[in-house]
Amino acid sequence: MSSLTPTSILLGLGIILLLGIMWIYLLLKQRQKFKQLIDFAIEGMVISHKGCVVEINAQALKIFGGTDKQEILGKSMFDFIAPESKALVQEQSTKRHTEMYECMLLRKNGTIFPALVRGSNVEGFGKSMRVSAIIDLSELKEAQYALQALNGNLEMQVQAQIEKNRQQEMMLFQQSRHAQMGEMISMIAHQWRQPLNVLSLLAQNIVFKYKLHKLDDPVMDEFKEDSMRQILQMSKTIDDFRDFFKPDKSIKIFDVKQQLAHAVEMVKPIVAGHGIELSFQAEDGLKVESFPNEFGQSIINILNNAKDVLLESCGDHSKQIVVEAKRGDNSEVIVSIEDNGGGIDTIVMPYIFEPYFSTKGAKHGTGLGLYMTKIIVEEHMHGRISVVNTTTGARFQIVLQGLI
Ligand SMILES: Nc1ncnc2c1ncn2[C@@H]1O[C@H](COP(=O)(O)OP(=O)(O)OP(=O)(O)O)[C@@H](O)[C@H]1O
Ligand SMILES: [Mg+2]
Repeated sequence: MSSLTPTSILLGLGIILLLGIMWIYLLLKQRQKFKQLIDFAIEGMVISHKGCVVEINAQALKIFGGTDKQEILGKSMFDFIAPESKALVQEQSTKRHTEMYECMLLRKNGTIFPALVRGSNVEGFGKSMRVSAIIDLSELKEAQYALQALNGNLEMQVQAQIEKNRQQEMMLFQQSRHAQMGEMISMIAHQWRQPLNVLSLLAQNIVFKYKLHKLDDPVMDEFKEDSMRQILQMSKTIDDFRDFFKPDKSIKIFDVKQQLAHAVEMVKPIVAGHGIELSFQAEDGLKVESFPNEFGQSIINILNNAKDVLLESCGDHSKQIVVEAKRGDNSEVIVSIEDNGGGIDTIVMPYIFEPYFSTKGAKHGTGLGLYMTKIIVEEHMHGRISVVNTTTGARFQIVLQGLI
């Protein structure tokens, strides 16, 4: 039968004390490890018990603007939550684990900042604690706002640049139209030459008959009819030119052969006056849905260039311009304008579609003809324009999407 001797009691107490010391030691060790672990975290970590802060890592201290942990330990978690987010955090803290959520927190100096928070209940050191991970979003938000402002600003700058380009293009169009007006007047003058000659002959004739006392009703009627025919012809020429050079208001389906024939008719009297042969052939039924007048004006620009180069070219070879239109693959319409004026100098070839590029001198060329032609063909009509030198001259080609 055993009995409790003082020695065994002391031994028992000693063992209990030792176990207690070991338990405390392990607890402290565990706590130290835990502290090391949370200090190592990139996010801010706050440990609370019954709503009071019991531990905080260095990152969280920095986030809340503290320098010493002691300023924060023991305080209520809610001291660090902005009024507008208190209800939200309260609701979230009733959950064992929360998803990340955004809320507004309070720094030590009273400033409010946006943060991303996640909370979780853990059992440790014999009591239930709440671990909250915190990421300060203020820098990110600032960057986001700055980026938004920059984007808005950039958009405004892009819009301003687009507007500037549009204005510039309009100005170039205007200049090019002025140059075309000059061309138009010289074309009208050529077209009028013949009816003016006829009118002058009619006038001389009527004076002659008057002097011979042969003016009677039938002669006067005939004179009136003949003169009116010429005058109407001249008036029609003006209308034709005005219609042809009128800016297109909208897209239309037009016949390529017909529009090319108009352009050729307008230029023909001028080139013929210089001994240049202008021939034209086109397939029937080539339809395009686009801007007919702009197309016609582009053709006139190319024809005028061919005329200019042929006027300059020496030699007694026959000077020719050939205009052709045919159907290509995939219902494309191919228009080509070829001259035998010697071609384009290879040095200037890369620049001929640039605005204000001209080899004719400021007096004779604005250098906008081919630039406008390219804008019309490629941007307005969504086609392609190209040029190659042939053995005798230059060949311009315009490819447009035709209607089947
Ligand atoms: N058929 C061609 N043969 C040789 N050179 C050409 C031909 N077409 C154009 N060029 C060259 O391209 C340049 C640019 O032509 P563009 O029509 O843009 O201007 P321009 O004819 O000089 O002036 P503008 O058309 O404004 O009166 C011409 O100056 C010329 O050097
Ligand atoms: Mg030109």
